[in-house]
Amino acid sequence: MFRQLLLAWYEKSQRKLPWRGATDPYHILVSEIMLQQTRVAVVEERYRQFIAQFPSAEKLARAKESTVLAAWSGLGYYRRARALHGAAKEVVRRGFFPRTAPELMELPGVGRYTAAAVASIAFGEPVAVVDGNVKRVIDRLISHKAADAGPVEEKQYWEIAGQLLDRQSPGDFNQAMMELGAVVCVPGNPLCAVCPVLELCASRGALPQPEKAARKKAIVQYSLCLKNGSVLLQQRPQNSSLMPGMWELPACSENNQKRQTSQPLMKLMHSITTTDYSVLVFAGNLRKGHWVPLKNVERSALTGLTRKILRKLKEGA
Ligand code: ADE
Repeated sequence: MFRQLLLAWYEKSQRKLPWRGATDPYHILVSEIMLQQTRVAVVEERYRQFIAQFPSAEKLARAKESTVLAAWSGLGYYRRARALHGAAKEVVRRGFFPRTAPELMELPGVGRYTAAAVASIAFGEPVAVVDGNVKRVIDRLISHKAADAGPVEEKQYWEIAGQLLDRQSPGDFNQAMMELGAVVCVPGNPLCAVCPVLELCASRGALPQPEKAARKKAIVQYSLCLKNGSVLLQQRPQNSSLMPGMWELPACSENNQKRQTSQPLMKLMHSITTTDYSVLVFAGNLRKGHWVPLKNVERSALTGLTRKILRKLKEGA
């Protein structure tokens, strides 16, 4: 009953998203990797651009890493882009796209969730997915059990999702579970009045939510150095844990503190994971770095913030 109700609801109510209905496993892999840690609204636009630029695993495998990182710019978590590039190369090396979840997990950056999503959506393998949305749906569905036996463990979520799975339509079922969590069984106040499985739900309403991690605030300052239509950029260290190898404006360093007393050219806000940055950009005349012509700077592997600053500069010009 649960399966029929959920699938009927999904067929009628699913959001129209550019990867819905895709059958090419490479396209599904791209969407699933982009959707990890990035909001659907952001992914929608970027997925279209990425697929237009790299329509096949072969095209992506042939691209230079800097081109792939540039196409990923703004999506954050650049390790995912490097892994996707590596996965495309591995698919080309093998000469075929792996079809089962265990084989898919051999590709770089493909974990249990992504392997199950691609195997079920592209190849109809009856394997369940578990992500944050699915966990919340399960928590609420079985709330009495969770209350008796303490929090549900990771392994149990996979077992429960596997028991719920519709083995005839695993791809649609998995997407329907995630969709239900994303649009109806939302964190905070779930929309139980429009829930297709309300009758089968043990909690029928919000469970106490874990407290959100407090957001941090920080100030960062950059130098905008322009000369003959070029802008000075510096490359982040390859061993940096955040955005290794990406290009950005030079930071205003300690020995450049005088900047703080002058007026910034630009102020903006930028949020990464749990930190909200107040960003100040000052005119500078530094020399250390790489001069990149402004007219094609967007082709570089810029950090999302640098892209934002340079776009704002262009808009103001
Ligand atoms: N979240 C991540 N992948 C998804 C998908 N294919 N459908 C719905 N929500 C998702």
